[in-house]
Parts: sequence; C-alpha cells; structure tokens
Amino acid sequence: MLDKLLYIETFGCQMNVNDSERIVTMLSDLGYAPTNDPSAADMILLNTCTVRGGAEEKVYKRLANLRIYKRDGKSQIIGVGGCVAQQEGEELLKKFPYLDLVFGTHNLHLLPDMVNGALRGERRSETTFIDNDMRLDLFPTIKGESRLSRFVTVMQGCDNFCSYCIVPYVRGREISRRSKDILSEVSQLADEGVREVVLLGQNVNSYGLKTENEPAFAELIRLVSEISGIDRIRFTTSHPKDMSDALIACFGDIPKLCGQIHLPAQSGSDAVLKLMKRGYNRDSYLDKVRRLKSVRPDIAVTGDIIVGFPGESEADFEQTLTLLEEVRYIDLFSFVYSARPGTSAAELEEYLTRAQKIARLDRLMELQKRITREISQTYIGTLQKVLVEGEGKRPAQLSGKADNGRIVNFAGDSNLIGSFADVRIIQAYPNSFLGESLK
Ligand code: 5AD
Ligand code: SF4
Repeated sequence: MLDKLLYIETFGCQMNVNDSERIVTMLSDLGYAPTNDPSAADMILLNTCTVRGGAEEKVYKRLANLRIYKRDGKSQIIGVGGCVAQQEGEELLKKFPYLDLVFGTHNLHLLPDMVNGALRGERRSETTFIDNDMRLDLFPTIKGESRLSRFVTVMQGCDNFCSYCIVPYVRGREISRRSKDILSEVSQLADEGVREVVLLGQNVNSYGLKTENEPAFAELIRLVSEISGIDRIRFTTSHPKDMSDALIACFGDIPKLCGQIHLPAQSGSDAVLKLMKRGYNRDSYLDKVRRLKSVRPDIAVTGDIIVGFPGESEADFEQTLTLLEEVRYIDLFSFVYSARPGTSAAELEEYLTRAQKIARLDRLMELQKRITREISQTYIGTLQKVLVEGEGKRPAQLSGKADNGRIVNFAGDSNLIGSFADVRIIQAYPNSFLGESLK
C-alpha cells in the first residue's frame, strides 16, 4: 500500500530525469507515492547536477529552504542524490545536520536499504563507483504511468574527458548495456503501448564499441527498428567525433528513425576545439552535418555551444557565430563557460570578465533566435505527421511531436491521442508550431 509521500526535485540532464523515475519506481515498493508538495511529503529528495558552476550553492540554498519542512516529531527523511552528491559525498552530511541520505550516481540500488536505515535514525552516504557492467543491471527499469514515448538507457558514463567537463568524474567510465536487455525492454514497452523510444546515453555514438560481441550503435538502431509496435526512434546525446558513416546512413534508410539530431559542437573555432579536447575540427563537424543533410534533407539539427572558454578570442567567437549560420540549428543550448574543479580546463587562465562572457552569450542567442525564426517559418504550410501524445495547454487542443521533434499543437478530438495525425502547420512560435488537423 502506498501510504507515504515522496517529493523529488530533479536538476540537470535527462539521465537525472530517468534516475528520478527509477527512484520513484524503487521507493513505491517501500510504500511511497509521489507528491508535488514538499510540505506534505514524508521524504524529500534532491537529484542534483554539477555540470556548470554554482551547482553546489544552488543545492545548499535549496537544502536550507527545505529545512523548514523538517519539523520536530515528524520522521521526515531528506536526501541528496545525483552528481553533486557524487562529488561532495560525506561532506554534505557534515554541512547539513538535518540531512539523512547522500547517494551517488551509481548507488541508487542502495536507496531502499538507506531509507530503512534513515527511518531508524541512521545517516548514511554512499558514493562508490561501480565500474563494471553490473552497474546497469542494478537499476530497475522504470514503471509507472503509461506513456507513448519513453527513454531507454543504452549506455552510461563517458570516456572522452573533454577538458571542461565534469561528467566523467561524476558519472564514471563509459559502460554499454547489453543489447539483448535493451531489445527486451523496448519489446516490453511496445507491448505496453509505447510507440516511440528515445535511446539515451551520455555518448550513444560509442555504444558497444568497447564491449565484445555487442553491435555498434547503428546496428542497435536497426535491431530496435525491427520491433513491431515501435514507430519512432530518436536518440541523445551524440558526440560528433563518434558519428560513424554507418550511423549517418541510418538516417537515409530507416524510416522509423526520426529526422532529428542533437550534435553539440561546443565551438566553431579550431583553436578552441583543440583546447576543449573535442577530437574534431570545424571542417569535420560541418562535413558530418552536410552528410546528414544529404541523406535526410529535412533533418532538424540542435546543438550545444559554450562561450567564453579560456583563451577564446573575439575571432574565435566569430567563428562560432559563422558556424551557426552554416549549420542552421533549429534550436541551440548555449552556456557561459564555468571552470569545474578537477577538470583539465580549470587549470587554464581566464582572461574574460563575466560581463564579457555574458555579452558574447547575448550575441549568440540573438543570432540563434533569428535562425530559429527563419527555419520555423519554412514549416508554415507543410504537412507534418504528428504522434498525438496528449491534451494541449489550451482547451480542446491536442499536443504531439512532429517527426523532427518539434511540438505541434492543434485542435482535435481527444480520441486521436495515441495515434498519428496529419497536421498542416499554420503558425510558428519559438518552441512550437500551431497546426490544423486534416482528418
Ligand atoms: N561550462 C559551461 N558549459 C558546460 N557544459 C558542460 N560543461 C560545461 C562547463 N564547464 C555544457 C556543454 C554540454 C552541456 C550539457 O553543458 O555544452 O554539452
Ligand atoms: Fe548534470 Fe552531467 Fe550529472 Fe547530467 S551527468 S546531472 S548534466 S553533471
């Protein structure tokens, strides 16, 4: 019986969102049901991110706020998980006397035991790395509300050590899940009515490369595409250096693979890319984008850019601006560089002030806004196949995704939910389209 309430707040990437769903699944076995109200909760968990600076302070602030919920006489449990927990470990317990649990990114499976301990008054921190393929077996698959689209973890961790990035230190070495487990999970999801899977990993392009007898990522996509009931496949995140010819070819000949790719460039300058240790240059990046567009002309490319990396000159930054014009991203996630402790770029001297970095970010975002607007306009009048996922925000409106991943809202009957609708785009907004159903 679910007679206790769990409030969980998630920061950072899709990995964390997925881990939070796993936590909810696991703790339901202990009788916890999710709630959106921390004041009503018997347990409060923060699932944290440290990819950019200020993460710890943010968590500390939030923890300080949450303290008010820890009332005397009520055995409320407060815990911190995710990447800040992984990084800070025991220190968090020392700093926050009302904190009960700290669990690292590889220790979710210990959580039920830790919660039982906390109910007896124990305070515990577990941040041990598990760097063998046991790691992926320890985590339960996500159960819960049925949805049309689900994320499926195919690999975890990262071996790239880009010079600015803390991920390899907090998420550990790259580990690929066995393909037979992935395929059986996807088949099971298909049986439950899931129509779209998003294959998830920090660097999915290198899936299987370091594991004997496992297919490479392109082959894995082919195998997933053979599962009946699954109509759409997407994946995230890709590293441009590992974007193989075979994977590019998939976009040409696997109709279920959607025309959408997130391909973070980080910079358009060769000098900066070298300092970032990205393993590709501007030309080879652009070449991959060109080849993707030649096999799938309507592919929607999104990216990540870091501005103000140590040593980034005005000329380097302008190279990034021209990269945006050449790639023509439909959407871009842009960040101001922040040094992360323990990464190799943290040793590099920074010359730019915060204000200078922000000024570059503003220029970049301005340019991207225009490009997004221009690309979005080209969709007006086109016909899009929309997988209708649910009600829209407005009354009598439905909402779903086009093949390229953009959200499309349109007026329609709720019995269309769960099916594909042919929708003509009539308006383009910065993050979505408005359409009209042709059915
Ligand atoms: N500073 C700023 N942005 C960063 N990212 C990763 N590390 C840093 C950092 N130290 C950005 C990258 C990455 C995204 C998830 O976060 O663009 O692709
Ligand atoms: Fe944040 Fe990276 Fe951890 Fe994801 S893996 S939560 S982006 S630090």
